[in-house]
Amino acid sequence: MWQQFTERARRIVFFAQEEAGNLGESYVSTEHLLLGILRENDSRAVRILERAGVSLSRIRSEIERQVQQGDEKHGQDMQLTPRSKRVIELAYDEAKRLSNHYIGTEHLLLGLLREEEGLAGRVLTKLGVTLEKARIENQLIHDEFPRDDKSGSQEKSSRSSNPFKNAFDFLHSLNSKMKVDPVNEVQATRDILEIVNQKGYWRGRDLISLIDVTPEGFATVVNVAAMLKALHAEKSLKSRWDYPRTLGMIFEKPSLRTRVSFEAGMTHLGGHAIYLSPADIGLGTREPVADVARALSRWCDIVSARVFKHETVVELALHAAVPVINSLSDLEHPLQAFADLLTLREHKGALGNNLKLAYIGDGNNVLHSLLIACAKMGVNLSAACPEGYFPEETYLAEAKRIGEMTGAKIEVVTNPIEAVKNADAVYTDVWASMGQEEEAAERKLIFAAYQVTSELMAYAKPDAIAMHDLPAHKGEEIATDVFEVHQKVIFDQAENRMHTQKALILLMLGL
Ligand code: CP
Ligand code: NVA
Repeated sequence: MWQQFTERARRIVFFAQEEAGNLGESYVSTEHLLLGILRENDSRAVRILERAGVSLSRIRSEIERQVQQGDEKHGQDMQLTPRSKRVIELAYDEAKRLSNHYIGTEHLLLGLLREEEGLAGRVLTKLGVTLEKARIENQLIHDEFPRDDKSGSQEKSSRSSNPFKNAFDFLHSLNSKMKVDPVNEVQATRDILEIVNQKGYWRGRDLISLIDVTPEGFATVVNVAAMLKALHAEKSLKSRWDYPRTLGMIFEKPSLRTRVSFEAGMTHLGGHAIYLSPADIGLGTREPVADVARALSRWCDIVSARVFKHETVVELALHAAVPVINSLSDLEHPLQAFADLLTLREHKGALGNNLKLAYIGDGNNVLHSLLIACAKMGVNLSAACPEGYFPEETYLAEAKRIGEMTGAKIEVVTNPIEAVKNADAVYTDVWASMGQEEEAAERKLIFAAYQVTSELMAYAKPDAIAMHDLPAHKGEEIATDVFEVHQKVIFDQAENRMHTQKALILLMLGL
């Protein structure tokens, strides 16, 4: 039951047992869980309570007023009452509703509010904290700030305005900074130092899903990457770390770009990257995922993982004490999306509703990340996928929801011509992803009409670019002539993997 619990959520259950014991009870009731939450006072749950305007001491005194001291001698492993068990079930349900792959303090609080008949629910309701209010505050904190259950080090915020508006102000203010004046490298270096050292959004955070990243967080990576690139920053930024940081890179699948861009980037920064092949560690077979995470955390400052199942990288992040980066799973390829949006901006100007990206082919991990990234940056995305190969509904629905706030028009159709019309960029990826090799022949037939050809490109804007995350299967998802005409853009995408990943690591670790 506790496997998906974050460290903080686990601590709350532990504190709840202590609270029950102190009150002479032999079972953990809902009020003990709430008292446990109050003790984890830098958690998302407490932040929600504070933003809902209720005083923590008032909650405690209200509970203490309503319970009587028992006289039980408590043991080590106290059981939950049926009502508390129900709270845990509801916490799982709340996490599922939010597409969260972990149970955090916020889910426990929402569970307590949904189980409204327990003492905790009644006290909270009496003090004006409703389920609806808590859900809204949780969403606002999520949009503005990181998940707080990893390091607990993120600052508290009193901002509650539309986070997308903030992101755009930020993005546009930095758009003007993007063209670094070559004679003013010193100032540009200072700008980078200022941004990466301000202990902001990314410090100590994981990158598992772009769904969890705020627009501002996304834009910061792209902007710092562009500055690093414009400066050819390696010389001026090298070896500022007080000791060389180490990146442990887990690969369950092959890679050229991800591995080399990380290794080169870490070298530029004066750090080191360790390549761990599937045979090296036997993730989940030779050793449980949780133990690999805990062991790597003792040596490395950051861990990246390319995995088959998305849950594997989620589990790594749950158990690692250092930031974990998803470097491709069956569901997402977030690192690729950072590089792609930087490339799009370099070739087409500021990101926003003025741009349209068309994606032709499989509704896969790369499309999932592009959907969320484009929606958050306000870029319109029209994808054409064969029936049965659409992106997962969670990603599509989330992208559309965000798009309503940022003005990004998001759609998936079956006709490639419809998707490509008026596009500024036409993007494609392999028809059979790593792990789907045995479906490759069947997919070739199904996707035959989804090749990016010069005829298809003719429906896009006259100056449209073609994009590909690589490796490419020329003659399948992209015609050879289209690939060669647009090879500069495609290899810019590959190069930008390095700049964006360097930016991300600097933001996560500081400089
Ligand atoms: N685009 C990409 O992730 O390439 P690799 O599989 O070579 O890392
Ligand atoms: N969709 C592809 C991306 C490769 C970088 C795959 O998962 O294999």
